[in-house]
Amino acid sequence: MTSYDIGRPETSWWMPQIEDRGDVILLDGTIRPATWPPPEPLRIAVDGKLFTSADYLEFPDRGAMSFRGMLPVKASFGDRTEVVLRLVGETSGAFARDWDQFHLLRPGVPSDVPLPPSTLTNRAIWMGPRTFDKWGYALKRKYDEAVARFATKPRGEQRLLDWGCGCGRMAKYLARECAYTGIDIDREAIEWCRANIKHATFALQGLEPRTAFAPDSFDAAIGISIFTHLREEDQFAWLKELSRVVAPDGVVAVSVNCATSLRNAGDPPEVVERLKGHGFCDTGVETMLKGVTADDEYYRNIYHTHDYIRQTWSRDFEVLDILPGFVANMQDMVFLRPKK
Ligand SMILES: C[S@@+](CC[C@H](N)C(=O)[O-])C[C@H]1O[C@@H](n2cnc3c(N)ncnc32)[C@H](O)[C@@H]1O
Repeated sequence: MTSYDIGRPETSWWMPQIEDRGDVILLDGTIRPATWPPPEPLRIAVDGKLFTSADYLEFPDRGAMSFRGMLPVKASFGDRTEVVLRLVGETSGAFARDWDQFHLLRPGVPSDVPLPPSTLTNRAIWMGPRTFDKWGYALKRKYDEAVARFATKPRGEQRLLDWGCGCGRMAKYLARECAYTGIDIDREAIEWCRANIKHATFALQGLEPRTAFAPDSFDAAIGISIFTHLREEDQFAWLKELSRVVAPDGVVAVSVNCATSLRNAGDPPEVVERLKGHGFCDTGVETMLKGVTADDEYYRNIYHTHDYIRQTWSRDFEVLDILPGFVANMQDMVFLRPKK
């Protein structure tokens, strides 16, 4: 019996390699339209204008296309520190969808935080340090825009928990803006953050809740790609803990793999069936953290449906919104407010 709607995938696009080459930035990526063929050819736009110096190749059998092009720094950025990349229809010029914007930081903008080593950036998001850093900036900018609707305090007055902070992708920016605390089960990542990111608190976390924090210690919490890796019982335990440590008027933003991630994974029929039946699917161990914690079975690959989230997470939280294809233009972002 089908009980859960697995939802519809969004058109997604991503760039696994972004290279600064002095005067130009090499952009290299993949576009996966929600339906194939797309109603009109899809193209990258820079600040709303077509990025014409790119080549596009179609792969109908994979329902995807690739792009590769050089973005001239001076002509594109002028004296600005960022440009915004989006996906548009080639003929209509219309944005392909909401929340796919990628804020690209100008090369050479100084930072007091060095790039983490590739062992840590790969472990966090399967990317080398330079591309990891660019996606970090883009995600932080997108998070700022999305969370503004729900935050009840200005950033400067917030106490923020970055649950599963990894090697500081968001910490690099957020630590300057609020009272930032990052926790993770990865000792090496926490040690790197402590050594390299100032004005922030980092703590090694055990696999299970509780954390060391008193009730209502935070005004905001983020968990980027953590519930995408936890067993169902661990998920419920961590939801309870997040709702305990975040204040009643606080906001929690966590990402999950839903229909868009599933499409990117090729819509495996057994996962689709299990999602339809239960709304939650554990596809097995993710080996990326092998040897990092005491339990190699802990870290897994997980899919959710929106229906399941709205039904089961509502024991601890009000579900404020779910934005599809948000993190890496793939994972959905869930915004929550604790129920106390
Ligand atoms: C996919 S990575 C994302 C890292 C970081 N949030 C980012 O976006 O760059 C997931 C992270 O969650 C951490 N993690 C997994 N389970 C956790 C838990 N129960 N508590 C804290 N961190 C956890 C992992 O060690 C890893 O650093």
